[in-house]
Amino acid sequence: MENSGSFYKIVLKQVPRDQEDIITGLCFDCGASGISENLKFHQDSLNYEPQTIETPFVELVVYFESAPGKDLLSQLQRRWSEVEVTVLEETQKDWNEEWKKGFEEFELVDRIWVVPSWRKAPSGVDRILSIDPGMAFGTGTHETTRLASQALFEISKSWERGKGPSVLDVGTGTGILALLALELGAASVTATELDPVARDVARENIRNNGAQGRVHILDDQVTSIAEKFPLVMANIIDGILVNIQEPLKNCLTPRGLLLVTGILAERENWFQNNFKLPSRYQWQKRWQLNEWVALIGAPQ
Ligand SMILES: C[S@@+](CC[C@H](N)C(=O)[O-])C[C@H]1O[C@@H](n2cnc3c(N)ncnc32)[C@H](O)[C@@H]1O
Repeated sequence: MENSGSFYKIVLKQVPRDQEDIITGLCFDCGASGISENLKFHQDSLNYEPQTIETPFVELVVYFESAPGKDLLSQLQRRWSEVEVTVLEETQKDWNEEWKKGFEEFELVDRIWVVPSWRKAPSGVDRILSIDPGMAFGTGTHETTRLASQALFEISKSWERGKGPSVLDVGTGTGILALLALELGAASVTATELDPVARDVARENIRNNGAQGRVHILDDQVTSIAEKFPLVMANIIDGILVNIQEPLKNCLTPRGLLLVTGILAERENWFQNNFKLPSRYQWQKRWQLNEWVALIGAPQ
């Protein structure tokens, strides 16, 4: 590849939608290696399915491995004078490696540290959750994971040493909360995850932490779990928690605790009105970090 270490982008703004195919065809004829469209979305309800907006003009980003020829630029300007053309030279980066540099070990809760699997634990730290997030959610840095960790720690204070309960972790992501529950004394953890890629990541993290046999990442979803758990936890965005509330509640033992987070503070009232706790349950404890809320539902 010419100019290894850099690539070129042409940003085209105000492209008339009916000219999009002709312009992209021209760019490919002139050596473009790829084209993306910056779509506009709106999302006005809680069902989390953003809709793309059909605008009369589109914004395109055209990629080139070497500097685009003057011929293309002059053709664009001559034939579509209303289109705004910006040429940018960009440095190639291994984004995965760049991102890894920013993920460092930190104390999650109660002297239990999250340590990226490719880094050494700091000296003196012996309670470790070794995590490689890959493409899954759950480095421990997000507010909702921190809230769930804090709540889990508080709940675990009542667990008898070596006799913690079995726990269900719905939406395990990297498996971080499952591993934390185990470290805090849970007897075992069963976890579900919708995303098969994340399930593989979680299984790898469970193996790397020597927790096979004590944490089970199911292929099944929460709707098909018949077992009951004294603690069910789920860190999933509030709209989905409401959608899956029945299976979550069905997995509780008669006096089981429900720990939920992923609730946006501005939607907490909506959430509490729409997530119907079992009779004689109430939202017993609440934590907030920035705009995120965690709640524990427990029998009165
Ligand atoms: C906010 S992340 C939480 C990850 C991790 N538990 C943590 O606390 O950092 C939510 C996860 O739930 C998964 N998820 C979303 N809906 C789900 C569902 N109905 N059942 C199971 N997992 C779900 C997502 O794929 C994502 O990995």
